Amino acid sequence: MKVIHDLDEMRLLSRRSSLAGARVVLVPTMGYLHDGHRSLLKMGRAVGPDSLLVLSIFVNPAQFGPKEDLASYPRDMACDLEMAGQEGVDIVFAPDAKAIYPAGFRTHVEVEGLGERLCGASRPGHFSGVATVVLKLFNIIEPDTAIFGEKDFQQLRIIRKMAEDLDLDLDIIGSPTVRDPDGLAMSSRNSYLDAKERRAAQCVPASIEAAKAAVSRGVGLSSAVIEEVKKIIEKEPLAMIDYVKVCDGDTLGDVDDITNGARLFLAVRIGRARLIDNCPLGRK
Ligand code: PAJ
Repeated sequence: MKVIHDLDEMRLLSRRSSLAGARVVLVPTMGYLHDGHRSLLKMGRAVGPDSLLVLSIFVNPAQFGPKEDLASYPRDMACDLEMAGQEGVDIVFAPDAKAIYPAGFRTHVEVEGLGERLCGASRPGHFSGVATVVLKLFNIIEPDTAIFGEKDFQQLRIIRKMAEDLDLDLDIIGSPTVRDPDGLAMSSRNSYLDAKERRAAQCVPASIEAAKAAVSRGVGLSSAVIEEVKKIIEKEPLAMIDYVKVCDGDTLGDVDDITNGARLFLAVRIGRARLIDNCPLGRK
């Protein structure tokens, strides 16, 4: 396994593998890896034993708001390299912020309509920062396949749309959300929760289960499902709802009824952590 910081070296190795007939598979992350990231690496390795599996680790300043947690975002390169080794990663690409955003950097990717909704409403500029860095990673690494988690469903949708609109020649694969035994979706930011907050966080997966149960009971109105979810979260004094919405999984627009493609999306603040989750409600 190689650890590469230099952009040109990364591009060269990737091109060399492609010319030799290998598929290049990219798993982009911000590090502090957990079993959710591990599942993406396993999926990446499964693309083929001969493929070049690249893990990028880059805490991307462009996707953090001025009052957000860029400085305190958790980092542990030694642990990350250990997991990368266990999962058969060929290259860890860990560039410096100055190499990705040199002085005078002025270009940003905006995926209109999809980037301002849901998390984009509470985090203005966030998805532009995500799309910009992901396009840069695609251009440096030139992957044939890139893998993203469904946990960040809006992010996955935005990247797919960017790839479609900008004629990017790669496959984008979505990978299912990995959860702790109590149902909480794994996230690097869960490390911000103390023991009491971690217990309180169970209201998030509990509310998702309640939403699914309501739909299987025959509840068909989005507003009724949203009410059910809010009722559970509002019982938890440490939890503050940012949003609870039922949207179409394609357009991310609100839907009134639980029809095909409807998804529940929620964001909840507990202590310093902002937890997001989503699940399908309608048949797909
Ligand atoms: P990060 O939060 O590190 O996540 C990296 C990838 O892991 C994303 O595709 C995310 O959806 C996926 N992931 C995180 N938690 C997961 C879970 N519990 N189950 C399954 N997949 C999970 O997302 C980012 O970084 C950044 O925005 C990035 C795309 C790297 C751009 O900077």
